[in-house]
Amino acid sequence: MKILVIGSGAREHALVWRLAQEADVICAPGNPGIEDEVECFAVAAVDTPGLIALAREQAVDLVVYGPEDPLILGGADAFRAAGFAVFGPGSAGAQLEGSKAFSKEFMVSAGIPTATHESFVDAQTAIEYARIRFADGYGVVVKASGNALGKGVIVCEDIFEAEDAIQRIMVDRIFGDAGAEIVIEDRLDGREFSLFTLISDNYAASLPIARDYKRIGTGDSGPNTGGMGSFSPDASITPDLLHEVEERIIRPTVVELHRRGLPYRGNLFTGVMLHKGRPHCLEFNVRFGDPETQSLMARIRGGFAAALYAAAVGEAIPPVEFSDDAAVTVVLASAGYPGEYTRGKRIEVGPVGENVKLFHAGTTVVDGWLVTNGGRVMSVTATGETVEAARFAAYQAVSSVRFEGMQYRSDIAESI
Ligand SMILES: Nc1ncnc2c1ncn2[C@@H]1O[C@H](COP(=O)(O)OP(=O)(O)OP(=O)(O)O)[C@@H](O)[C@H]1O
Ligand SMILES: [Mg+2]
Repeated sequence: MKILVIGSGAREHALVWRLAQEADVICAPGNPGIEDEVECFAVAAVDTPGLIALAREQAVDLVVYGPEDPLILGGADAFRAAGFAVFGPGSAGAQLEGSKAFSKEFMVSAGIPTATHESFVDAQTAIEYARIRFADGYGVVVKASGNALGKGVIVCEDIFEAEDAIQRIMVDRIFGDAGAEIVIEDRLDGREFSLFTLISDNYAASLPIARDYKRIGTGDSGPNTGGMGSFSPDASITPDLLHEVEERIIRPTVVELHRRGLPYRGNLFTGVMLHKGRPHCLEFNVRFGDPETQSLMARIRGGFAAALYAAAVGEAIPPVEFSDDAAVTVVLASAGYPGEYTRGKRIEVGPVGENVKLFHAGTTVVDGWLVTNGGRVMSVTATGETVEAARFAAYQAVSSVRFEGMQYRSDIAESI
């Protein structure tokens, strides 16, 4: 089987690395780390005609999308129309991530537990609603409905913050057209985790839990990022709790997709918050999460390519084999990230252990030197018999990587 993986981050590096152990893999556009694994082609992830031409020329059997934006734009639909098996939903299914207003309406009609909400296209009406919610004793969260690169959600402490958030998103358009519509929902409180589920029309198969760390700073301080680390498995998510998530969120989702005639073939990423001890659905994403994927790929023993292929063609999903080992991923970021960050810093990599993998994200090669070229530069993923052992190995490997201004969290997978 020949697989084309689309994307250029550490998530795609991890997918490529795993899939290449099971199949023949190529990647577009890739990055310097992915180039060390497989052949890469300089075609952008949103250049759908270019990618289809590449897939034809290379006679690929399966196309795997990494990032969400080409999916929201209909990349998978175009590939399917051209006769390819694709892992990744079409633009209709991708609205579960592309429009929070759609996704909330979907959850409500499917009977999925989620925060009470209203959607708005008018700022004044939105402000009046927020005032009423605060007056009734609720907190609110203001969300740009469109895709705002993980930055469109503002958790508000009081009505002044809510009014300010509505003003900035809807009127000042700080997230552009993503803020033409907003969702205001009640603020929930509790522990969060996410679940990845491979969906093949009416079949669903969830992967083990990987926990991620969103804030930039050790101890969960500072602003949100694309993700600063992850670990798997997460023993705090009990089988009973997982069962409840499957029954109350995943199963109704698959039924609702079917009821609406929305074929979905890809990964569904469900963000869950344990509000008052019960799972509530915070959001859906329509692709794999980064950096959870890096930890998950390190734990797979086999069957991943076959599972993605089955999902892509709408067949029952065969089990993916996971090892009992744990994996820990630490993200290395540039100085300044998640704000304005430095680029072009030379990266030095010393020897790392056999159970360690460096997944590239924001790296490039200039004059023969590997240099930084993004906010999140690399993921360091290590495995071990226990989370503690994997954590120790990951941090040992972190100390073999150097670039000016390198920042990372020192508490990934600590005291869990
Ligand atoms: N109703 C809520 N109550 C409390 N916190 C919330 C609520 N909704 C969202 N949050 C917080 O905001 C974060 C981001 O929200 P959400 O997942 O909807 O946004 P996103 O921008 O799509 O995120 P991602 O980049 O993970 O896709 C959540 O992980 C959670 O911590
Ligand atoms: Mg999201």
